Amino acid sequence: MKQIAIFASGNGSNAKELIHHFNHKNNKVAKISLIITNNSKAGVLEIAKTFNIKTVVLDREEFYNTDSTINILSENHIDLILLGGFLWLIPQNIIKQYRDRIINIHPALLPKFGGKGMHGMNVHRAVIAAQEKETGITIHFVNEEYDKGEIILQAKCHVEENDTAEDIEHKVQKLEHDYFSKTIENLLLADLKIIL
Ligand code: GAR
Repeated sequence: MKQIAIFASGNGSNAKELIHHFNHKNNKVAKISLIITNNSKAGVLEIAKTFNIKTVVLDREEFYNTDSTINILSENHIDLILLGGFLWLIPQNIIKQYRDRIINIHPALLPKFGGKGMHGMNVHRAVIAAQEKETGITIHFVNEEYDKGEIILQAKCHVEENDTAEDIEHKVQKLEHDYFSKTIENLLLADLKIIL
């Protein structure tokens, strides 16, 4: 059974879906055993509490200048890191230690609408401003640059003329909840690029 850590900064709806999927007694593939956040007020902490999952709130200075996060990950035997709306760039030491074992979900069709500052509603507003006819999600490996790692899966939805950023958020969120857990499970089962 593989051990997964989720890094999240916000509401944690993706974390909740992942927990429902993996921490089910019939699932023998993996388990969400740690939730890490940079935000002590993040909704994801409440979700973790409900499901009795260990949490860590990061200190920015320690995160970027020490190996403390790597130590926490290894003490908890973490095999795979999933980013579900995590807003800090992952530092080099963690990328190196977990190369091809960190996966992000992004709320747009990369390489469009990616990069620093492109998260959540900012992305959906930019999609409307650019008059895109479609948008979607990208599940991808994480490397040293924001949103630049190899793409694993994309799924699309239509943008209608009258759609607001909130309408797009709902459509994209539905895609995220439909695809994130299944994609991770398939990767783990196929043992594709993830060397565990
Ligand atoms: C998700 O839509 C995720 O794709 C996005 O943050 C949201 C988190 O929602 N991530 C990014 O924008 C990363 N650049 P959640 O807290 O409800 O899971």
